[in-house]
Amino acid sequence: MKFFIDTANLAQIKEAQDLGVLDGVTTNPSLMAKEGIKGQDNILKHYVDICNIVTGDVSAEVIATDFEGMVKEGEALAELHPQIVVKIPMIKDGIKAIKYFTEKGIKTNCTLVFSAGQALLAAKAGATYMSPFIGRLDDVSTDGLQLIEDIRLIYDNYGYETQILAASVRHPMHIIECAKIGADVATCPLSAILALLKHPLTDSGLAQFLADAKK
Ligand code: E4P
Repeated sequence: MKFFIDTANLAQIKEAQDLGVLDGVTTNPSLMAKEGIKGQDNILKHYVDICNIVTGDVSAEVIATDFEGMVKEGEALAELHPQIVVKIPMIKDGIKAIKYFTEKGIKTNCTLVFSAGQALLAAKAGATYMSPFIGRLDDVSTDGLQLIEDIRLIYDNYGYETQILAASVRHPMHIIECAKIGADVATCPLSAILALLKHPLTDSGLAQFLADAKK
């Protein structure tokens, strides 16, 4: 399973990249705002800065919600850097835009997916990635991981190549369950990735080994 980091924070992206296990980055307008990135030129520069830190795909989201606007914005984003993936919301014009970019050979990430039907449409349009938001489903008492399982079954039934990118990941157990189900990618906060490192028996075992090594 690929690990993406879900942030626009350059220091966190660098920390994850330095760990040697990072396969890409996802951003969204809220994550960009959180870093205080304002103005079109600064936003575009920030995407390039991210691409220069990592070697994998970097999702950059369009703001437009109409087909023509998404195409214009997406083409400008794709021209920024070969690692850019155009992130497009799961709406009617978004599906049309994904189909358009697919035919042009531009990578896409269909975002804000909350149902298997939406995931099926994204695959039929040829999305490179499709992002079900598991944490936000859990937040409203709906099983986000069950959705990943359903989509895995549907995609495997028909051999769809669209990658299931588990998003809105909140904690390490989400990552582990996604890996068990067979999600292609999990995009996670740095804290969830680092939490995978932790086990009290590792800490106490290492302390014992180091103590014994001094004897
Ligand atoms: C996905 O690409 C989104 O950026 C993200 O995972 C949303 O997560 P949140 O629900 O924690 O905002």
